[in-house]
Amino acid sequence: MSHGPRSGLAAVSSALLAMSRHLEVRDVLKTIVASARELLDAQYAALGVPDDHGGFAQFVVDGVSEEQWKAIGPLPRQHGVLAAMLREARPERLADVREDPRFEGWPAAHPDLVDFLGLPIRDGDEVLGALFLANKNCPRPQGGCGFTEQDEELLGILAQHAAIALTNARLYERSRELTIAEERSRLAHELHDAVSQKLFSLRLTAQAAARLVDRDPSRAKGELRQVAALAAEAADELRAAVVELRPAALDEDGLVATLRTQIQVLDRAHSARVTFTGRGVRALPATQEEALLRVAQEALHNALRHSGARHVDVTLERSGAGAVLRVTDDGSGFDPQAVRRAGRHLGLVSMRDRASGVGGALTVESAPGKGTTIEMEVPGG
Ligand SMILES: Nc1ncnc2c1ncn2[C@@H]1O[C@H](COP(=O)(O)OP(=O)(O)OP(=O)(O)O)[C@@H](O)[C@H]1O
Ligand SMILES: [Mg+2]
Repeated sequence: MSHGPRSGLAAVSSALLAMSRHLEVRDVLKTIVASARELLDAQYAALGVPDDHGGFAQFVVDGVSEEQWKAIGPLPRQHGVLAAMLREARPERLADVREDPRFEGWPAAHPDLVDFLGLPIRDGDEVLGALFLANKNCPRPQGGCGFTEQDEELLGILAQHAAIALTNARLYERSRELTIAEERSRLAHELHDAVSQKLFSLRLTAQAAARLVDRDPSRAKGELRQVAALAAEAADELRAAVVELRPAALDEDGLVATLRTQIQVLDRAHSARVTFTGRGVRALPATQEEALLRVAQEALHNALRHSGARHVDVTLERSGAGAVLRVTDDGSGFDPQAVRRAGRHLGLVSMRDRASGVGGALTVESAPGKGTTIEMEVPGG
């Protein structure tokens, strides 16, 4: 079958377009192989991407039926002409592959390949794979027409584009893996910030209830209702973290009211006095409000859990177009450098990430015996 220059170009172009539409490596390879076989009018086409162990990470064929493929048996190893092509990164155009000194035979069910055209797929010096064709269809019944120099040129173009497509597909898969890893760490932070605090308060409230059961059953009942409410909130936060909703209270009540309520609850649940002052803060962009709330929650949580403070004070005030949050405790204090080096705590890391994630800044001021102040500034909108 011969293509005029126009139809040949159109066919190449549509093959290239088909390649660039697919992003999964396997689909890219299948498209390349099918296009090569069709464009060069061959009986068989294959593409192998070698692995590091003498086999193939991918091996895609076109022109072989499913039953035939199964009958052939396990994937080929890198041997014979194929191995030479991968090693030497040189094209091979042979009138009869079986006559080649490097030929090592094939399994019983393997189709008989005669004329052979193979090209390495390269990205710079790296050989990504080999693309090859066998048995050019030919009007003479006894066969033996063979591949031409023109065929080799055309397959060369396909191999170059195959290299680009393969490289793109690899980059895409790598970037998708990265995105998944980022998503996982975001979720871990989200769960840490939202849910573990609620569970901690829940535990304290349940303990309080247990102490009150005998002495003051009616107050114990009140504490148990609080347990139920906290459990429900934890479940909501969990759901919100998973679907990436911001805390519902923020939308309904705004940042100042949300902080005030949560701090009142903490004040009641803990022996430390917990206070809040909000001065002249206007509404901020949603992401900044959410970050401020999360940082305030974690800073409060740390102060109540680690510092033994008698007083924890939270202030939120306007600063230019933005706002400054301060959480101060008069507790034990700690050495922020040492904690940073220890590196297994999520809370402080997560606070920093949240601040920088909205264009803000976080400072930790603390020293053993001196109490702690966490300050976060956001730019506003
Ligand atoms: N306000 C504070 N007062 C005293 N020590 C603190 C205070 N905040 C943090 N720390 C110390 O810094 C450490 C690190 O805090 P961070 O929030 O990063 O982790 P964590 O609270 O231990 O664990 P989590 O990952 O659950 O938050 C704490 O373990 C504690 O020793
Ligand atoms: Mg913490």
